[in-house]
Amino acid sequence: MLPYGKQTIGQDDIDAVIEVLQSDWLTTGPKVIEFESQFAQTTGVSQAVAVSSGTAALHCAMFGAGIGKTESEEVIVPSITFVATSNAAIYQGAKPVFADVDPKTLLIDPDDVRRKITSRTTAIVAMDYAGQPCDYEALRAIANEYNLVLISDACHSLGGYLDEQPIGTHADFTCFSLHPVKQITSGEGGMVVTHDAPAAARMREFRNHGITTDFRAREKLAKHQYAMESLGFNYRLTDIQCALGLSQLSKLARFTRRRNDIARFYRVLLSEVEHIETLPTRQGVLNAHHLFVIKWNAQLSGVTRDKAFKAMRERGVGVNVHYQPVYQHPFYIRQFGDQNGSCPNAEAAYSQILSLPIFPGMIETDVRRVVTELQEIGKFNVPKRKAA
Ligand SMILES: Cc1ncc(COP(=O)(O)O)c(C=O)c1O
Repeated sequence: MLPYGKQTIGQDDIDAVIEVLQSDWLTTGPKVIEFESQFAQTTGVSQAVAVSSGTAALHCAMFGAGIGKTESEEVIVPSITFVATSNAAIYQGAKPVFADVDPKTLLIDPDDVRRKITSRTTAIVAMDYAGQPCDYEALRAIANEYNLVLISDACHSLGGYLDEQPIGTHADFTCFSLHPVKQITSGEGGMVVTHDAPAAARMREFRNHGITTDFRAREKLAKHQYAMESLGFNYRLTDIQCALGLSQLSKLARFTRRRNDIARFYRVLLSEVEHIETLPTRQGVLNAHHLFVIKWNAQLSGVTRDKAFKAMRERGVGVNVHYQPVYQHPFYIRQFGDQNGSCPNAEAAYSQILSLPIFPGMIETDVRRVVTELQEIGKFNVPKRKAA
């Protein structure tokens, strides 16, 4: 099965991990600090806080931003995203309010964000769907106007750029995932980046039970006392994971270029396929291409998206669907009621989207194979006629 995403691990990554295993510090050691520092540099910010997952990163960002300090707060989140984006607001006691997406890019629609703001809104979370940065200029203007925190779920867009600035610089807090299908991996892992040093200090405590010093700092001071100042979690990332992350980070630019090459090749081949539409990349954007999402036209192909999904899987191509509108999940219906009809673009897109395989280790033959299978599954296997 050709997977939709896959890590690329080299001997240098393996050697970096082994070196840590032979050292004194497996966790809360020097590799964590080194990884944070390199990550901050790559993403163009002063502060990076390493945590155990992208989900932990989102939870830390909510805490760092002070979300949930008062009762009945609302946080605006995109309707098409992984559940972790909105779950993080709930962890902090806030209610997620879903904004619709742009029908072409499937990125959160700033106009709908504006419509969903109430006196209880405290933050906006944008998610860089498939690797394309959101319209941060518009979102920043709204956030400033209503005095809201702007959080970026950039779990898809590490390595991407918007207006020549790296992803990491556009929001107050930007969260990344280091899961194996993402741009780079540490096995499991995450990172929050920010320009806000006091908030970074709060998040460092939060990832360590709300305790003000870590074990290594106390060892240095030969002190056994510690103070727990807030209710935190164990969201620490190990030195083993940070060594892998550091080694992977040095290859980020190369991985991003490769993903863009694959995406370009897909676009060329798919421009000939009548029943498939690709998502456009906006001007001024370097798309990180975590996913390559297409819209499947059931009418033109005579086959529903779900049937196409099944047929592709049967043919050994690991396509996927990212994502069902979050408010349609049973937990959300029980907790917040039936919100069907609230985000029509997201609901329409959900019946059409299909994520095709994309990862740095893919070769051109893989791309051709995926496109051939997609063509064969469509009823009218007719190439588009070129414009005269
Ligand atoms: C958009 C988005 N947000 C958050 C997450 C959560 O990241 P993690 O799996 O590292 O917890 C993911 C991971 O799949 C994601 O795709």
